[in-house]
This record gives sequence, C-alpha cells and structure tokens, in this order.
Amino acid sequence: MSSHFVEVQGLAKRYPSPGGAQALTVFENANFGINKGEFVCIIGHSGCGKSTILNILAGLDEASDGVVIMNGKEVSGPSLERGVVFQNYSLLPWRSTLKNITFAVQARWPGWSRDQVVEHSMKFLELVGLKGVEQRKPSQLSGGMRQRVSIARAFATQPQLLLMDEPFGALDALTRGMIQEELIKIWEETHQTVFMITHDVDEAILLSDRILLMTNGPQARVAESVQVSIPRPRSRTDIIHHPAYYKIRNHLVDFLVNRSKELSGSAQRQDFSAVDSTHPAVVDPGTAAETAPTITYRQAAG
Ligand SMILES: Nc1ncnc2c1ncn2[C@@H]1O[C@H](COP(=O)(O)OP(=O)(O)OP(=O)(O)O)[C@@H](O)[C@H]1O
Ligand SMILES: [Mg+2]
Repeated sequence: MSSHFVEVQGLAKRYPSPGGAQALTVFENANFGINKGEFVCIIGHSGCGKSTILNILAGLDEASDGVVIMNGKEVSGPSLERGVVFQNYSLLPWRSTLKNITFAVQARWPGWSRDQVVEHSMKFLELVGLKGVEQRKPSQLSGGMRQRVSIARAFATQPQLLLMDEPFGALDALTRGMIQEELIKIWEETHQTVFMITHDVDEAILLSDRILLMTNGPQARVAESVQVSIPRPRSRTDIIHHPAYYKIRNHLVDFLVNRSKELSGSAQRQDFSAVDSTHPAVVDPGTAAETAPTITYRQAAG
C-alpha cells in the first residue's frame, strides 16, 4: 500500500471511433502519486492527454480504466475539496472581483459570517496584489489581473487538491513571471497540494517539487518523474544560477524533443509492455553526475 495523498492507478482514456472502428486510446496505464503539500507539474506535447488527466482528477471527466484515490477515497464527481483553475479564468462577469471570491468562499464555508468571508477573501486578493480593484468587474481588469483573481479564488477556498490547467498560457512573459512569483508566495504560505499543467519548462522548474513527463499520444504514458532538487525559496532571477538548473532543463528539453517521441506509440509497445512500463522512471538530473546517465527502461522478456 502506498501512502500518497493522491493515487492515480492504471488510468486510461479511450474514445470509441465513429463507425465502430478501433477505439482511440489517448493514454493508458498512468500510475503516479502526489504527496500532501507537493507541487507537481505535468508536461507533454499537445494532445497527449494532460487536460484529460486533470479533468479526471477533478471529477469532471471519467476514466475508461483505473482509479483516482484522494485521501483514501475514490474520486467520483466534482467536489469542493478539489479546486480547478482553467486557462480562460472562468470568472462570473456580472460580479465584482471581490464577489467572485466571496461567492466561492461562502459556498465552501456556509456557516461563516459575512465579515469573516470578506476578510478571508480580501487576504487572498492582497496576496496576488489586487487590493484596490476589488470593486471592479472582470471586464475592467486586464487578462493577467483576471488570472490572478481566479488563482486567489482557488487558493482562498483551500481545496485539498488544487488543479491548474496551463493557468498562465494566455499571458505575456512579463505578466507571467510576476504571477509565477505570486503563486510561489501564496503556495509557500498555504502549502496546498498542487497539480499543474504547463508547456513551459522554466515555469515547471521554478514551481515544482517534481515534474511528470508524458510521451506523445496516442497511447501516451507517464514515462518519467523528474525531481527538482533545487532548494526553496526560489526566485526567477536566482534559480538560473543554481548548478542543478541547466541539468534539469536539458533533461526536460531532451525528453520533449527526442524521448517523448521515441517512447511513444504502438510501435514501441512490445519493448515497454506490462509491469515495467507502467510506473514512471524516477530521475534526479540535478544531483546526477555531469554526464547524465542514460535512463534504462527494463525491457519485457520475449
Ligand atoms: N470527445 C472526443 N473524442 C475523441 N477524441 C477526443 C475527444 N476529446 C478529446 N479527444 C482527444 O483526446 C486527446 C487528449 O486531449 P487533451 O485535451 O487531454 O490533451 P492535452 O494534452 O491537454 O493537449 P493540449 O496541450 O493541447 O492542451 C486529444 O488528442 C484529443 O483529440
Ligand atoms: Mg490541455
């Protein structure tokens, strides 16, 4: 028995093909765990199934196979214990910034007084640097500000698991950098368990304790679990000078450019079949010797 806070076991997603042809297997045999308080990012090429995995973790989509267990209980359907930040902010346009947060906080703690709800919500607006604009409607905020509101809202409701699907995907590099630092600050304060999708390797290294790497689809797999052995607190400007930074970065880029393709698809199936291929290889490029060791995948007999 494993003691992970979140356990993903044998997860697969298939879509039946129109006309009864063979089903499309988006990914299969996804197995990984997330520890309490851990920040885990997942990276993989477009279409490999990252959002699908996140939506299954949220209880918004159903797996074709396998289970997600959180805190010893199987996930089935959405719950306030799991908060989601989508790429498109998803704020309520007719409510003020503050009311977009108090609305969620009140739903989370129905017994709280109005003052308690407002005080709690303002604390999180302040953490993302939005004090002073709490009466504005979302349409009166910039894209970056809107995204900060949705991050504040997600953290304010203190879900046991926070799920973020490319939360900074639509932002320019400068705004993205600022919000990343705010996210670190808020995470260091709350120590939420976070599962986040990103396409940006630098963002993943800055934020994560661990990075999961997915091979290309179809039949994608979670192939590696990469440790980010860089001490916290981290900042964007300092982290690039850490000796582990470029080792980890090179490892991730090499995966995305080369190995995600080599390890993918049915052509490779017989080499990575059964038990051995189902658990991601654990790698720690930051503490590895200068010449990174080749990762060996145990091959199935025969
Ligand atoms: N209803 C559907 N029927 C068939 N295939 C689907 C359906 N919905 C999604 N897919 C396929 O599932 C795959 C995974 O989609 P998903 O959105 O999870 O990918 P992703 O890794 O998040 O990609 P991106 O990085 O572009 O956001 C895609 O290849 C998509 O074509
Ligand atoms: Mg996606």
